[in-house]
Amino acid sequence: MRSIPFSNLRVQQEHLGTSIQSAVSDVINSGWYLLGNKLAVFEKQFALYNGNNYCAGVASGTDAITLSLLALGILPGDEVITTDITAYPTITGIVNAQATPVPVDIDSTTGLIDPSKIEESITQKTKALVVVHLYGQCCDMNTITTLCKKHALFLIEDCAQAAGALYYGKKAGTFGNCSAFSFYPTKNLGALGDAGAVVTDSADLYTKITELRNYGQKNRYIHDSHGINSRLDEIQASILSVKLPYLDTWNKRRNEIALQYRNRLTSVQCLKQEPYNYNNYHLFIIRHKQRDLLSKYLADNGIQTLIHYPVPVHRQKAFPYTVDKQFTNAVDFADTILSLPLYPELSDSDVDYIISVVNSFESREAC
Ligand SMILES: Cc1ncc(COP(=O)(O)O)c(C=O)c1O
Repeated sequence: MRSIPFSNLRVQQEHLGTSIQSAVSDVINSGWYLLGNKLAVFEKQFALYNGNNYCAGVASGTDAITLSLLALGILPGDEVITTDITAYPTITGIVNAQATPVPVDIDSTTGLIDPSKIEESITQKTKALVVVHLYGQCCDMNTITTLCKKHALFLIEDCAQAAGALYYGKKAGTFGNCSAFSFYPTKNLGALGDAGAVVTDSADLYTKITELRNYGQKNRYIHDSHGINSRLDEIQASILSVKLPYLDTWNKRRNEIALQYRNRLTSVQCLKQEPYNYNNYHLFIIRHKQRDLLSKYLADNGIQTLIHYPVPVHRQKAFPYTVDKQFTNAVDFADTILSLPLYPELSDSDVDYIISVVNSFESREAC
């Protein structure tokens, strides 16, 4: 029987291993490991790739969200609206800035925040909106930027899953005041450890973030604000510079595989493909009422699947805030979704195999 893991970073490492080892050796031999030339080079490359004026490398995507909020002047107790279906670190990033996260229900056809439900959650205390381009599909940014302007809210894009994704041909991360990226190893652009970045077009926000990531240090040993330690180190920056030129090719391959899934899966429901989006297919989600049985069936046939995410934000034990709203879509969504393996290194025959096994699942009752 075949065995198809949910992700497989070893193949990518085999392909790029020599270049990565040489980049890492350069850093080791340079004797300079933090806030040096490799970071400066990667920051320039990523800002250019994404179409932003500035990029500040930080230690993780979670910190990128926190630092964005702090740089924007969000204060303890300010409310920050976000989505009920996301990786919990979106919430961690908000809570670490001492703000109060306010989740909003999703559009069940995409799993993304439902823009029509945002306004009812806005209060006097609402200061910002963190939208999450989940699974590599952009939120409806025209509607969302209009809402933010109307209510004078800061906009932060959580682009942890959206490197290279496009909305009407424009990169994810170019719509907000600040945008947060994660380079966690399994992301479309992944480091070999933790790493993240904030991109912005504002020189002031960029300067503020570079201070806040370095204990609020303005000049050597001079601290104007209370920051954190969140630096993207030279080794990870050099690795990201090796990988960045491949990102578009990898995303293209992800799209080829996604198209196969979309065209040939017969017994499950796929998420809606919005015509304005070019997804980076960080994840490929299917829905089925008998999700747990399907997942077991796939596992019995050697195919590993995961659930992104099994528990909506408002139902997580860590989420200590009371919400007197219904999250009907999020709850149903979390109960019926399943993520299939999708990564550039997946072979055509693996894709054929996955499709044939999913299609052979006994129950035909799609959501
Ligand atoms: C949507 C989303 N936001 C934030 C994060 C946090 O990124 P990191 O793991 O780099 O802190 C992740 C990563 O898991 C994510 O998927």
